[in-house]
Amino acid sequence: MDNKPAFLLNFKGYNFERSLVKMDIVENMDNHEIRDDDVFLVTYPKSGTVWTQQILSLIYFDGHRNGTENISTIDRAPFFEYNNHNLDFDKMPSPRIFASHLPYYLTPKGLKKKKAKILYIYRNPKDVLTSYFHFTNLMTYLQAADNIEVFMQSFLDGQVVGSRWFDHIKGWYEHRHDFNIMFLSYEDMKKDLRSSVLKICSFLEKELSEDNVDAVVRQSTFQNMKRDPRANYEDVKVEIGTRNDEGGFLRKGTIGDWKHHLTVEQNERFDMIFERNMKNFPLKFIWDINEE
Ligand code: A3P
Repeated sequence: MDNKPAFLLNFKGYNFERSLVKMDIVENMDNHEIRDDDVFLVTYPKSGTVWTQQILSLIYFDGHRNGTENISTIDRAPFFEYNNHNLDFDKMPSPRIFASHLPYYLTPKGLKKKKAKILYIYRNPKDVLTSYFHFTNLMTYLQAADNIEVFMQSFLDGQVVGSRWFDHIKGWYEHRHDFNIMFLSYEDMKKDLRSSVLKICSFLEKELSEDNVDAVVRQSTFQNMKRDPRANYEDVKVEIGTRNDEGGFLRKGTIGDWKHHLTVEQNERFDMIFERNMKNFPLKFIWDINEE
């Protein structure tokens, strides 16, 4: 018997959000034409997608950086697999920036030419879980969870949009040689935003003046994004629908909020499952704001 929650649509082993899916897009994703100068931002949900969309948009678009154009983030860096606003991707001028939560095996074949660049942002999964729990209870299209215990079970079982966190990051990391990809952590961005912006610029081969780097950094801090309606995804929140008005895509924006949500027992259980799944995994995770 299939006991998958109704809001999930499983396609080739990966869970999409059913009401946002257009089947013709999903079924043709792998053949989508990729340009050499395309940039894909890939994340597991709640790992800093909106933040990095903002950073990439500020890096690439002068009109965003200097405030002369007022275009929302989702149109600057649309979601590849959902294409919420039905943009004609083929007509978008280069360089195109896409955001995606896809697992490595569902992305367009053209990415394997290793020309187009992929930026993979990852975050410690206890904070992902915490952020996702709040998000799930906010957005009407997701299934609210009574408490974090219930949500933790769904998260660990992969019964969420994005499927299992472990599979997502391991899949991308183990297949990294097939792509032109850079991994960067949410925590590194949080601890030193300026040097993270510089790392991203260097990967993208984009040289910005000192002043322009300053402008990118200034406009992508949590405080500034939170009060900028273009940057905080307020329009998407309204379009998709929320259960209440509290919170949004930008909630706390910190490292270690999981400590305020998980009990000692839940934390130990999570650690055990993490150990089992991530043994010998080389990327480092930062669990606490004070950790070096
Ligand atoms: P929290 O819920 O822990 O606050 P995504 O965009 O992938 O859905 O991720 C959302 C998470 O990124 C939220 O985490 C949000 O607050 C955080 N975030 C967004 N912009 C940020 C910024 N400028 N600085 C730090 N965190 C940010």
